[in-house]
Amino acid sequence: MVDDATAVILAAGQGTRMKSRMAKVLHRAGGKALIEHVISAAKGVAPPQRIFVVAGHQAEAVGAVARAAGAGVIHQTEQLGTGHAVMCGEDRLAGLGGILLVLNGDCPMIRPQTLQQLIALYRETGSGAAMITADLDDPTGYGRIIRQPNGDVEAIVEHKAATDSEREVKEINVGFYCFDAAAFWKHVHEIRPDNPAGEYYLTDIIAILLKAGHRITALKAADSTEMLGINNRVELSAADRIMRERKARQLMLNGVTIEKPETVTIDADVVIGNDTIVGPFVQLTGNTTIGENCRIGASSIIENSTLANGVEVFPFSSISASTLDAGAQVGPYARLRLGAHLDEGAHVGNFVELKNTRLGAGSKSMHLAYLGDSQIGAKVNIGAGTITCNFDGKNKYPTSIGDRAFIGSNSTLVAPIEIGGGAYIAAGSVITDPVPEKALALGRARQVIKEGWTRKDKPAKS
Ligand code: UD1
Ligand code: CA
Repeated sequence: MVDDATAVILAAGQGTRMKSRMAKVLHRAGGKALIEHVISAAKGVAPPQRIFVVAGHQAEAVGAVARAAGAGVIHQTEQLGTGHAVMCGEDRLAGLGGILLVLNGDCPMIRPQTLQQLIALYRETGSGAAMITADLDDPTGYGRIIRQPNGDVEAIVEHKAATDSEREVKEINVGFYCFDAAAFWKHVHEIRPDNPAGEYYLTDIIAILLKAGHRITALKAADSTEMLGINNRVELSAADRIMRERKARQLMLNGVTIEKPETVTIDADVVIGNDTIVGPFVQLTGNTTIGENCRIGASSIIENSTLANGVEVFPFSSISASTLDAGAQVGPYARLRLGAHLDEGAHVGNFVELKNTRLGAGSKSMHLAYLGDSQIGAKVNIGAGTITCNFDGKNKYPTSIGDRAFIGSNSTLVAPIEIGGGAYIAAGSVITDPVPEKALALGRARQVIKEGWTRKDKPAKS
């Protein structure tokens, strides 16, 4: 039996306590917007999902993130409550059968396995609704779970509406539900805004479904950190820390050595091969992939880049949107950006910057250079202090350097310029004309000697 399944993620609220111009679900933890985490959790659930995000505050920005993550968007122009939020999708969703998952958009730590357990409980018990709950030492503010004598759920009572004895209950509603879609849509309009806030509470549907003869069950979470909702920036930072720990732990268990794991920042989607060593304070972000047997030196920052096997990055390097082939070496203190590409075994040393530049196999630029918009062949040596002048104040121009060329120290290569294979540029040259293969180019004034110029009897300056 394959159930049809739809997930609706509630994300229209502003999140007042974030004290932010930005909608709460767009704030980031673990390298992703909060809403992206919930979408990934929903995506990880079988059977295959239709996923919708309810957007209201900053609907355009929230909608863009949702669509990019593969979810549809439902608009809730006025935030009249969590029940109303789901109702806004009625046109598109009411005809769909199977199960309806409703997920709070501000609980980013939820894992697909836990949602899967919720669905399993719903199915095994033949419930009309099932939800996830957690025991909290301080349940203030949350909806409380009122159980029947047989353990099934009778109702969810919102904190504001709860009696003193109901407020004693430590078991709270986390905000993840699995409904029988047909029953849900049949009864959803029975939710009334008859509470002090005048809101349509989604949680009221529980007592309504019970009255209509459905069984209501609850899955109590073993790990309550997974249920952490984000309401302010202290909780945001706590979520970030937990996600970083989870990621580091998972990588270590998969064969990556991480030195001082409490200091590293590794985004959720980063992939790292076996026996790679990650030093302290390293940041690996975005869509970064690192091969096996690499070494990432302390405090290096690598974003949206691909490193093949055996790459060595020495400390304090910054690498962004770049590709490093097997055995390449970088740093310390190197900067690679905007499409830099090191071929196999190429070396880039300290205080060298590469932008949109390909450095061929086995080529070296070991100290103090800027190489921009350049195609550099194999086995080239770039001397210390070499600069490609790729910008004339208006436009950028390319530089090309053939295999086995030797660029002497402190050369200034004025682009557009071509230097042939095996050519030799004398140190200190300013090169403005093309250099043929195997030629020697000298682009500097000849040294002049003035004998006896420093006379002992020269009058001292006053
Ligand atoms: C809700 C639950 C409460 C539960 C708690 C867990 C209700 C009535 N209460 O309370 O039982 O313990 O979550 O965190 O559901 N949203 C919309 N449109 C709206 C209102 C809210 O999309 O009109 C979204 C918010 O953006 C948020 C989520 O729904 O992502 C929850 O809303 P929130 O106002 O935070 O509900 P709580 O008061 O926390
Ligand atoms: Ca909340």
